[in-house]
Amino acid sequence: MGEVDTAFREKVEELTGKPTVVGSINKKKIDGKNIIDLNLLKGLSEEYYIVVPWLEYSKVNWDRIKNAGYEELTDFLWEKHDYLKYLEDKELIAKYGNKIIGEVPKGISVYFRGCNTTVTFGKNIKVLSKTRLVVTSNNEIKFGNNVTIKHVKLSFKNNTRMTVGNNAILMGFAHINTGSVLEIGDRVKIAERVRILTGINNKITIGKDSQIGSDSMLLGSQGHTIYDMDKKTFTNNMNMSCNITLKDHVWLGCNSYVYLGVTIGTGSIVGFCTMVLKDIPNNCMAFGSPARIIKKNIAWDYDNDIESYESIMNLDSEYRRMTREK
Ligand SMILES: CC(C)(COP(=O)(O)OP(=O)(O)OC[C@H]1O[C@@H](n2cnc3c(N)ncnc32)[C@H](O)[C@@H]1OP(=O)(O)O)[C@@H](O)C(=O)NCCC(=O)NCCS
Repeated sequence: MGEVDTAFREKVEELTGKPTVVGSINKKKIDGKNIIDLNLLKGLSEEYYIVVPWLEYSKVNWDRIKNAGYEELTDFLWEKHDYLKYLEDKELIAKYGNKIIGEVPKGISVYFRGCNTTVTFGKNIKVLSKTRLVVTSNNEIKFGNNVTIKHVKLSFKNNTRMTVGNNAILMGFAHINTGSVLEIGDRVKIAERVRILTGINNKITIGKDSQIGSDSMLLGSQGHTIYDMDKKTFTNNMNMSCNITLKDHVWLGCNSYVYLGVTIGTGSIVGFCTMVLKDIPNNCMAFGSPARIIKKNIAWDYDNDIESYESIMNLDSEYRRMTREK
């Protein structure tokens, strides 16, 4: 059966002053996770508050709870379903510790599925295609000023943080896993169908003035454990540090992949269809699979207006340094 986010359940308990049980049609007894057969709760609405996991949502369960004498919201709620109501009920949003700072841009809908989450919107955000922002518990999400959003899908697990800098252009998909952070700097451009996946408790950083070509991927986690049956041990460690860092002014060509743990230095270029498995220092050009450093001491310009060596001097000096080996 589905599980209810602990932080959310505890918040409900605090608000209602009643022990909160997680309702299920399948379980017969209360167990360590407070899972209970809904049939056992008949007539006990004064004593218990029920939270029903989203996965258990059905007309049959709905009728069963109603028939047992429970009133929606007063005595029970569907986790991850009642968020639809939160939208219409600003007081309820605040009651669960959720907050929206700034004006929700036209074209964005925010759905609260948990508690203690803050979503901040800067000024003049352009939304070019309708976007649903579904947030869970303890998320801190911040969009800067003049951000453009198109065909974006974002998914947040509990205890996560995402910041999007000023004048960034966002397309593509990001999944921010439990305890993780995604930082997108000022003026970053992320093209169509880019996928960004953080691991658990790690961080992906995309430095300011960087550009990520379409269909690329930043893969912050292996996703599954691998077991060596000869040695009887795990060959990978899911808890290893898997931060990915694109420093400032990195150009990642389309269809390129960056693997967990990798840092790409300021001012570097990664060619199209490249698999980056190891760090790349600053101001390098790298391509191939796996990536090889092809040239050092290069600089690139966002606006194609480098016409001479003199015009490169208009670039931020940090973006045109000689390559330094680590
Ligand atoms: C890496 C890159 C910047 C190099 O550009 P360049 O300096 O003009 O290089 P050239 O096109 O002259 O190619 C030089 C050599 O590298 C090879 N090469 C270039 N890019 C390559 C890549 N991504 N993978 C493998 N080989 C590549 C070329 O075939 C050529 O080989 P050769 O010397 O044997 O003929 C460019 O190829 C690239 O990948 N740009 C990204 C484009 C992109 O994804 N844009 C999307 C919008 S962000």
